[in-house]
Amino acid sequence: MNETLEVIKNRRSIRKYKFEQITDSELQTILDAAFLAPIGEPKGHFTIIQNKDLLDRMVDSIKENFVSSGSEIMIKKVKDPLYHTFYNAPTVILISADETAPLMEIQCGLAAQNIMLAAESLNIGSCLILSSGILFKTGKSNEFKRELGIPDGYNFVCTIALGYKYGDDPVTPPRDKNIINYIK
Ligand SMILES: Cc1cc2nc3c(=O)[nH]c(=O)nc-3n(C[C@H](O)[C@H](O)[C@H](O)COP(=O)(O)O)c2cc1C
Repeated sequence: MNETLEVIKNRRSIRKYKFEQITDSELQTILDAAFLAPIGEPKGHFTIIQNKDLLDRMVDSIKENFVSSGSEIMIKKVKDPLYHTFYNAPTVILISADETAPLMEIQCGLAAQNIMLAAESLNIGSCLILSSGILFKTGKSNEFKRELGIPDGYNFVCTIALGYKYGDDPVTPPRDKNIINYIK
């Protein structure tokens, strides 16, 4: 198997991270890969969050929002003292997009995948996290948008946790192969 396929095969969602921060040069390599995704004219915005206090405050607000959402599954999850939306990863990339631009989820998703594959190629763990989007569903949304420097008219698309992996890689969840229809 070639190196590219090895990286694709080895990438897993990582949910345990070392405390140590990734280097600026690793982060730059990962961001360069994001911008090389087939995204055409960029209408997305990337916020790099490496401030633990801000990340923890985001998680506190996410927890509050899940509690008020009434979702029993999420309430049980966030009441676990070990719960942390970003798994205490030292770096989180938040991707937001121009709310008026079409198909932005696809563009941002392609950039997110490049981020995760570039990270894996550097042996850095990653996890795509969308549950964090509840941060922008209530009153504090605008405060956080301001603090995160999300441009006016841009909306949350996803977050990606990044950091050195702690412990063994998780096993690959089973993939349903019955989703292909070959027509020859
Ligand atoms: C749209 C989307 C949203 C996701 N949101 C979360 C999330 O909020 N928290 C999380 O831990 N993982 C999240 N994931 C990661 C998936 O749980 C993970 O990719 C899946 O279990 C397969 O595992 P793998 O990435 O190791 O192959 C999300 C994945 C996708 C595609």
